[in-house]
Amino acid sequence: MRLIDRVAIVTGAARGIGQQYCLSLAREGAQVVAVDILSCAETVTTVKQAGGQAIEIITDIADATSVQAMAIQVINQYGRIDILINNAALIPKLTPFDQVLEADWDQVMAVNVKGMWLCCKAVIATMRQQGKGKIINISSDTIWAGTPMLLPYVASKGAILSFTRSLARELSGTGIHVNCITPGLTLTQGVQQMAPQETVDYIQTLTVEQQIIKRREAPIDLAGAVLFLASDESDFITGQTINVDGGLTHH
Ligand SMILES: NC(=O)c1ccc[n+]([C@@H]2O[C@H](COP(=O)([O-])OP(=O)(O)OC[C@H]3O[C@@H](n4cnc5c(N)ncnc54)[C@H](O)[C@@H]3O)[C@@H](O)[C@H]2O)c1
Repeated sequence: MRLIDRVAIVTGAARGIGQQYCLSLAREGAQVVAVDILSCAETVTTVKQAGGQAIEIITDIADATSVQAMAIQVINQYGRIDILINNAALIPKLTPFDQVLEADWDQVMAVNVKGMWLCCKAVIATMRQQGKGKIINISSDTIWAGTPMLLPYVASKGAILSFTRSLARELSGTGIHVNCITPGLTLTQGVQQMAPQETVDYIQTLTVEQQIIKRREAPIDLAGAVLFLASDESDFITGQTINVDGGLTHH
């Protein structure tokens, strides 16, 4: 129980990897705030069935007013914010870069990059007052691989790496630590929407062949790195990026 009574906001918590983060954080004793544009009822139920504590706050992370309202609700309810996991993102359909619609480009950047900035802004005053906070930004190993046909996504995830470094340095002396994780291909609804089933199957097979660890990545494989970065065990680590992809890429 490394996170007893810590208040942890997880964005993109309705499903997939975000749901797993909620469950893992709650198992370590955290009070979980599940944030998503979709209902997080399933996540809250799963956490509670496992003996943990969670609430949901429906939020559009690309909308400043919505994000601010979410942070105020957390403060009103718990009086503190210890951990922010910036996990929500849009995973677009595989598309040649010159066929990406301008509106889709803007939307990916608005959610994946601006949304992360808005969430950080909303929690920072509270974390400053506490003299401690852990921000964990979820990028992607596609930034090391240079994955094609996903240019807006890969560009947005690359921005998260430099965002993490810059924010960590700007928050020097505050006790707020900012780190990043680059997950590898993990089958979720987001990934399933990326391409037809046979294409996703093909990409998964190719990925496992190229990994050092020869099995498919699952959401639980990412929980260890998140818990480590959320806990006191990582108190001398900030501005860093941990790659969790079974050794597909190197960082
Ligand atoms: N699954 C993978 O293979 C993989 C690999 C590398 C990185 N990642 C990253 O891990 C994270 C989780 O991915 P996933 O596969 O679980 O994706 P997913 O699409 O299954 O889940 C993403 C969640 O984010 C939410 N979301 C989208 N826009 C939002 C908005 N404007 N406001 C609030 N919530 C919003 C969605 O509703 C959804 O619940 C993402 O940051 C993704 O880029 C995933």
